[in-house]
Amino acid sequence: MMNDIIPKLEANNYLLLKNKSEAYFDDVVNYLGQSFRKTSIQISEAPKTKLETKHRMDFHTDPKAKYIAWYCVKQSSVGGESLIIDFADVVKALDENSFHNLKKLKTIDSYQNVDVPFYDESNGEPNFYYSPWRISKDDKTKYEKELIELSNVINNIQPIKILLDPNDILLIKNKRVLHTRSEIGGDFNRLIIRHLIV
Ligand SMILES: [Fe+2]
Repeated sequence: MMNDIIPKLEANNYLLLKNKSEAYFDDVVNYLGQSFRKTSIQISEAPKTKLETKHRMDFHTDPKAKYIAWYCVKQSSVGGESLIIDFADVVKALDENSFHNLKKLKTIDSYQNVDVPFYDESNGEPNFYYSPWRISKDDKTKYEKELIELSNVINNIQPIKILLDPNDILLIKNKRVLHTRSEIGGDFNRLIIRHLIV
């Protein structure tokens, strides 16, 4: 049963598994690779990180991770939908020349403290890295026009929307799809466990 997870995930770029135990989630994470960071994500009234705010974040990919795995323990009564956009759709809508220039954009990978290009295919498949708040000031200026276009393209694509219920697992190919979540409201009674996996 576990055997078809990677082929499905590789074919669809994301995978939703409904109504699973936390023990099963741990097995899935181990099956996918090595988790280098496990975070319990909750909303805070005094947020110290973007993850803890109720606000919608910009679409992005996370540093380093090949896969991201989320497990929903509790979901807020309003909002908090997971949103996903395939980078292939972004590239299709981008001006060819802008994409060519953006390939050179470097963004800091805060886990490894190295600059990572927006696009590379060194392992034989397309890998994207886009994290708007981690782009250096220099590159923000240098690629200002392209970054505005990119942001407009992303915001014009209708994302896949998934509302995780308690006990649901969501897996994504981090270097292939952009993710964020919608603004959170209601009772804020939300707990999501996230693994970053290489
Ligand atoms: Fe993220």
